[in-house]
Formats: sequence, C-alpha cells, structure tokens
Amino acid sequence: MTAAERQPENQVVIFDTTLRDGEQSPGASMSLEEKIRIARLLEEMRVDVIEAGFPIASNGDFEAVREIGRIVKTSTVAGLARANPRDIDRCAEALALAERKRIHTFISTSPLHMKFKLQMEPEQVHARVAESVTRARNLCDDVEWSAEDGSRTDPDFLCRCVETAIKNGARTVNIPDTVGYAVPEEFGAMIRSLLERVPNIDQAVVSVHCHNDLGLAVANSLAGVQNGARQIECTINGLGERAGNAALEEVVMALRTRHDRMPFVTGIQTEHIMKASRLVSAITGFVVQPNKAIVGANAFAHESGIHQDGMLKHAGTYEIMTPESIGLNKSSLVIGKHSGRAAFRTKLQELGYELGDNAFEDAFVRMKELADRKKEVFDADIVALVDDEIGHQADRIQLVELEVWAGTRIGRQKAALVIQIDGEQHETTAQGNGPVDAIFNGIKELFPHDARLQLYQVHAVTAGTDAQAEVTVRLEENGKTVNGQGADADTLVASCRAYIHALNKLMDKRHKSAPAALSA
Ligand code: KIV
Ligand code: ZN
Repeated sequence: MTAAERQPENQVVIFDTTLRDGEQSPGASMSLEEKIRIARLLEEMRVDVIEAGFPIASNGDFEAVREIGRIVKTSTVAGLARANPRDIDRCAEALALAERKRIHTFISTSPLHMKFKLQMEPEQVHARVAESVTRARNLCDDVEWSAEDGSRTDPDFLCRCVETAIKNGARTVNIPDTVGYAVPEEFGAMIRSLLERVPNIDQAVVSVHCHNDLGLAVANSLAGVQNGARQIECTINGLGERAGNAALEEVVMALRTRHDRMPFVTGIQTEHIMKASRLVSAITGFVVQPNKAIVGANAFAHESGIHQDGMLKHAGTYEIMTPESIGLNKSSLVIGKHSGRAAFRTKLQELGYELGDNAFEDAFVRMKELADRKKEVFDADIVALVDDEIGHQADRIQLVELEVWAGTRIGRQKAALVIQIDGEQHETTAQGNGPVDAIFNGIKELFPHDARLQLYQVHAVTAGTDAQAEVTVRLEENGKTVNGQGADADTLVASCRAYIHALNKLMDKRHKSAPAALSA
C-alpha cells in the first residue's frame, strides 16, 4: 500500500516545524528542555509529524532530535538533512531511538538557487535527488523530499524531480514557497499540475510549506490543500524564518470552521492551541500581537456596544468559533488564598499541567504568595507562575533575595542582591542608571560574563496594576543567543529572575552546542 493510499482521502497531515524552521528565527533559540516541553505538548495536541531539528547543524540540534525521538511515542519525529551523505547519516543517527521517524531531505530546485547558492547544473541537482532519497530510504522507511524554492522552480523540472524522488522511495513530496512569493491561485495551480502531470504521484503525499513574506502563508497552504495537497507544514504562532511560516492554529481552525468550503479534517485536538501558543511565546520571547487571528488577546474580545449587545443575544452574531474550541475555558474553579492543594491540583490539571511532588509544592507556595498580593488569581497567572517554576528548576544560579531603590533622585538607584551559585551564596549592592540597570550590574558583578543584552521585554500577564509581570531577557555570546524568562508580581524581581535564567541557559549552551560546518 502506498503512503497516499494509507491516508483517508480528506485527511490533512499536520507537520509542525516550530522546533526547526521556527527556531531559525533570529533570537528564537530554545534549550533542550524547552524543546522537549513543546514537543510533549505538540504530541498531546496530536500533531502528526514533529520536525525536531536539523541534526548536522549543531550538537544541540542533534541532541534535541535524539531526545524528542526517544520521548515522543505517537507523533512521527522528523529530522532535516541536506542532500548529502553526511547530513543524511547524521539525521538517521539522531533518529535512532524514535518509534516513528522520518528523514526530511531537501535540495534547491529553482534556477536562482541552483546557479548561485548550489553552483550546480540542473542535471547534477536531479541526480542528487535520486542519490539522497535512496540513501535516506536505506536508513529509514519514511522519507520526505523537499524542493527548496519550489514555487520559483521551472514546472517541468519540478515534475521531473518530484517523480524521481517518489521513484526512489520518498513517501512525502513537499513543495515549499521558501521566500513567501507565491499567491494562492498560482500556488494552488502548481500543486494541481503536479497531481495531474507526475505519473507516480499517487504513491506519495503532496505537502506544502509556505512562508509568510507577503502575509499569504495560510492562504497559500489552504489553496494547496484545495488542489490536492494532504500535508501542511506549519508552526505555532507562525514562528519561522523572516516573516515566519503558516500558523498551525490558523490553518487548523480555518479547516475546522469552514468545513463547508474545505471538506478536510486534521487530527489536531484544538483545545490545546492556546496553551501551545502561550508556551512558545513565553519560551522565545516573541510576543503574540493582540489582534493575531485565533490566539491574539483580542481574538475573542468584544469591545463595541453593538457587538456586546449582539453577543449577549446570541454568541454566533460575532463569534465564528467558540473560545473553548481553542482552550480558552471559562473555568468554574476560582483559585484564591483559601484554596487548598486538591483544588490547586485540579486547576493545574484543567490547565494541562501534571507536576511532580516537589514542583507542585513549590508552585503551591508561590500561588499562595501571589494570592496574598493580588486580588484575583487568573488562569493566566497560574500558567505564568507554573511555567516560571518549571523553567527554573535545574538552574545553577538562583535568586535568593533582592531589594531595590528607585525614584527621581539621580544616583540613588541601586540593588542589593543575594544569589546562589552552585549552592554557595554571594551578595553585593550595585548602582545603575535605573533599578533594572542596577540589578543587571549586580548580577554581572557576582557572575562576571561578556554576554550582551539584546532584548529586555516586559509583558503584563493580566490587566490591572497588581498584574504579574512576565519578563524576557535575551543574551548573546559569540553569536549564540538565549532567552531567559521570569514571572513575578514585582516587575523588578521578574527582571532579575529572567536575567539569571538567561545566564543559566548560556552556561548550558556553552557545554552543549559545538557548531558544525554547514557547507553544501
Ligand atoms: O522554506 C524552506 O524551503 C524550508 C525547507 C528546508 C523545507 O524550510
Ligand atoms: Zn521553511
């Protein structure tokens, strides 16, 4: 039975590349632990294929593919490889422990890329398609082949390459709009023509991978499906190179909401969408714009009187999908300072968390402290608090105490800081241009380093002046970036925690990711 026959006619495979193409966005680097957290959630969402990394690119990527392959059981785990033996063998090695695995190999097929990037003749590229797919297929049953810059490729040449890839064992053939140049009608027609012209196309699943440079990634992906594609490559929040990839939440909810016009189904449990969006945003520091489709803070908010009136009469007047369908639950369980452990555990389960005993106890204590300081503890507060707790568990540097002086009198801004480094306490009082500067100077004094601050970002978790602050600090050292997060009702404490978290990740990165050469 061929790959295409195994798949029901109207089933669309969701291939998530948040951990590979998404991580390629400048500044969006993630630690191994963070990638594992995202992968677990993607599996829970029933994503069909999780592209976990590009194993040859670095030891960190190799380890991520290996670990995710070991942990994830129900989704297929894919690794990316260029069309050469070293890449393909390394990818197979990284996938060794995976129950369901896929090697995703690619080569550029457009005239521009072949001439300037690869400096290869079309016939050489064509030969490489056969060689690379054959090699991958000897190492793994499930092989995907991609034509990089496919949308700008000569149609006859694309048909030949696709046919060759399938003939040599590719089960999925992917047509990327690498530079986000296509428009829906054109892209849909391109997919249709492959289905009509490639003689062995029925032996493979046709996939689309669209970038968002013109804001058309989702529209192009849907046009692809309407014309015969049955896999969409996408990322949470549309993260990805430059303007990003097609957003998973948008393609999935469009297919679900407009089933009347697009009679296709995905296996995605959409109730996890909001949590996945929040997690990816918190880990990368890429804030979701308030008016972003599906997951933006305003996506289900109704401000105008006319809309509110309509909503009260019938939700369908202004809502085309329910907030519950993406996991925005109007939960019945309110958490406050009188809540006990059982209620808190139930709330965590409702929000999708299963914490070990120690992590649960720490989160419970922090929830109580927060409830003492804040009138209402919202679900978003608990999510921020628990994410912060999970993210900091293994940190070698920990914040013990912080006191800060701020105000209008210049020269008075200072921070008294106690931190623990590998179990030993260190303290200092440092000055700065403002309280945040003073805190960061203090940390630098206690833990000297040359990393440069690239981003300092504060986000209020909920409304109100007593809202928790969620802070992201991005540090850069020798071309490597890390994002640290901190959450607290006190913005300065959150800032301190975020900086320390970033430093911990930098230390980790120094050990783990030795770069590898990336020549074609
Ligand atoms: O955008 C692209 O062409 C890619 C390929 C490697 C699939 O990401
Ligand atoms: Zn891409």
